[in-house]
Amino acid sequence: MKILVTGGAGFIGSHVVDAYIAAGHEVAVLDNLSTGRESNVNPAASLHRVDVRQLAQVQAAFAAFKPEVVNHHAAQSEVPKSVADPGYDAQVNVVGGLNVLRASVDNSVRKVIFSSTGGALYGEPDIVPAGEDHPIRPLSPYGTSKFAFEQYLGTFERTFGLRFTTLRYANIYGARQDFAAEEGRVVAIFASRMIEGKPLTIDGDGSQSRDMLHAGDVATANLAALERGDGGIYHISTGIPVTVNDLFRKLALLTEYKLEPRFGPSRKGDVYRIALDNQRAHEQLGWEPRIQLEEGLRLTVNYFREHIARSRA
Ligand SMILES: NC(=O)c1ccc[n+]([C@@H]2O[C@H](COP(=O)([O-])OP(=O)(O)OC[C@H]3O[C@@H](n4cnc5c(N)ncnc54)[C@H](O)[C@@H]3O)[C@@H](O)[C@H]2O)c1
Repeated sequence: MKILVTGGAGFIGSHVVDAYIAAGHEVAVLDNLSTGRESNVNPAASLHRVDVRQLAQVQAAFAAFKPEVVNHHAAQSEVPKSVADPGYDAQVNVVGGLNVLRASVDNSVRKVIFSSTGGALYGEPDIVPAGEDHPIRPLSPYGTSKFAFEQYLGTFERTFGLRFTTLRYANIYGARQDFAAEEGRVVAIFASRMIEGKPLTIDGDGSQSRDMLHAGDVATANLAALERGDGGIYHISTGIPVTVNDLFRKLALLTEYKLEPRFGPSRKGDVYRIALDNQRAHEQLGWEPRIQLEEGLRLTVNYFREHIARSRA
């Protein structure tokens, strides 16, 4: 199958590209390399260095590659950036996304798979784990722009017959995550600082919890969505809340880190306790997470060890 992955040079998108190529698909990446890296792009994929905000460029890439399926990962993906500049967030996530949808319709794409968020849509959830039908009340412009695009997908299906599957991700961690990013990419930041023996500050008292899923499990969900889940919205998650203190302890063991953490002020607008029920994805996509937290953290620490050693050499 010919699949175009937008954002395929980024953290999660690059794992999805690798999984599609390993499954024998022909893949092209559309990315402007704003946060992604060319070195993340699988050598078997072609790279179109294009900004999704530029409709003519997007149309040209689609016309050249002629994808059957579009997997849309390109985004302004950081919550704090969306708070600081909601206009930019909407330009990329809404207007850019609409350019991808227009080009999909014009080039007879069969289906769009969209990487949405579970963590930034529900505010402080009424129940944990929250289901996909939980009331939507985003605390950030990022959550709102992702939800707006989900709504456009419904419109494009009804009006133009463009099929879609929306995958609402939990907190994803793994190799290639940017540990220098502003956003609280907790595993990448903790692992890299612990390996380097640097002091660490936990935002708040560390009792806040998140649903942590390894990027390898996200890749298998995107494989499943190629054939299943048309018109559906699915949590791609573990359903289990893990506290930040627990992550700290597990990573400290793996990295033999001896320093105690410092505790700073909690981040404004942060949810306190969240996890996302994944039963629907299990039933309808035939997907479930396979990488246990301890194993996922071990793989991630190994990656950062090698990455840090390479960048020092
Ligand atoms: N990381 C998470 O925990 C998480 C959770 C929920 C949803 N998501 C979603 O998953 C997707 C990937 O996130 P990520 O964590 O890999 O972030 P990332 O920043 O590594 O990936 C985003 C990619 O999009 C590209 N991009 C950004 N603006 C672009 C533009 N204007 N034109 C073309 N390409 C552009 C970047 O260069 C990058 O390669 C995003 O849609 C994000 O909203 C991520």
